[in-house]
Amino acid sequence: MERIFDILKKPAVYYSLLIAVLAVVGGAAWAVYETQIPPEQPIDFPHNIHVGLQIQCLYCHPGAWKQASAGLPTQDKCWACHQQLTKYWDPENPVPLNQWPPELQKLAAYVENDEPIPWVPVAIVPDHVHFKHRPHIAAGVACQDCHGDMSSVTVAENPQLMNMGWCITCHQQKTVDDPVKREKLISCETCHY
Ligand code: HEC
Ligand code: HEC
Ligand code: HEC
Ligand code: HEC
Ligand code: HEC
Repeated sequence: MERIFDILKKPAVYYSLLIAVLAVVGGAAWAVYETQIPPEQPIDFPHNIHVGLQIQCLYCHPGAWKQASAGLPTQDKCWACHQQLTKYWDPENPVPLNQWPPELQKLAAYVENDEPIPWVPVAIVPDHVHFKHRPHIAAGVACQDCHGDMSSVTVAENPQLMNMGWCITCHQQKTVDDPVKREKLISCETCHY
């Protein structure tokens, strides 16, 4: 795939050919990204409860600022907080594990077995697309402009398809007054390796 995208650095005459080729070889493979249906997760993690508690997005997804990928919290990070919830751990009046809410019993089992929680990706673009959170956050684009209002969802879902048209539409909207920047933000090699 990298090779193919090297061609993008060559004159525009190649583009239509490239699009034709990729449409044939890539159609099926990328179809998986073209859905907004949230997958089954190992734990039904309630975003609404946690965001409602004012826990910052970056507390659980710190990479959204520092790295290419936002990252997901480990079971230890969940536990560091959950083991302090006196609702369950009150030494005077401990709640037996089998009376905890079922999703928290699952969390406790991952912690007990020291097993990473196998979260299923929801927000994802294909490997040939160059996406980094950082320039977006730095330009003042909010998490919810791309991921929707997470305080109203339980398991994460995409509010729109994360396809090329979506990226380019916003890049055009954000650069109405800046033709130079626009040219860069809509040129193929900005988003494709
Ligand atoms: C900073 C603290 C904190 C962190 C981190 C945290 N939680 Fe929570 N979580 C809470 C609080 C507080 C509640 C509400 C507890 C209550 O009122 O029953 C809650 C509720 C929940 C519930 C709902 C329980 C129910 O009553 O049905 C689940 C499931 C859950 N958390 C799972 C997780 C998982 C999985 C992680 C890690 C990805 C995590 N939490 C990380 C504080 C936290
Ligand atoms: C307490 C920890 C916690 C907080 C706070 C939190 N998240 Fe999450 N987030 C998770 C976990 C765990 C998952 C994986 C489960 C899932 O996809 O539902 C996740 C998944 C996601 C996903 C999908 C990721 C993927 O794998 O494709 C997005 C997007 C997301 N969160 C955005 C946000 C935003 C935006 C906020 C703030 C408004 C936020 N989250 C706050 C724990 C958290
Ligand atoms: C400009 C749109 C945009 C903004 C703003 C944005 N995201 Fe994302 N986010 C994406 C895209 C696109 C992906 C898929 C990235 C990939 O597959 O490499 C993604 C992936 C994720 C994931 C999945 C896990 C990962 O590491 O890739 C999480 C979690 C996430 N974003 C959280 C956040 C949080 C938290 C914020 C705010 C601090 C935020 N995002 C802001 C577009 C955005
Ligand atoms: C909601 C609006 C929005 C969406 C959606 C969006 N972007 Fe952006 N993007 C921006 C803004 C704003 C900037 C920063 C422009 C600047 O430099 O001021 C940016 C910058 C970038 C850059 C950095 C360009 C550089 O300076 O090197 C890349 C790469 C990029 N976006 C890729 C993507 C991809 C890929 C997608 C879709 C998966 C996407 N963007 C979706 C608004 C958006
Ligand atoms: C702002 C980011 C952005 C720019 C600029 C961009 N693309 Fe894309 N492109 C994407 C994303 C995201 C995908 C993956 C999602 C999809 O298939 O729509 C993609 C997918 C593709 C695909 C695969 C389509 C398919 O059938 O799955 C081709 C071919 C492609 N781009 C060619 C180009 C060409 C040629 C240009 C320049 C004229 C270009 N892209 C500019 C973001 C961008």
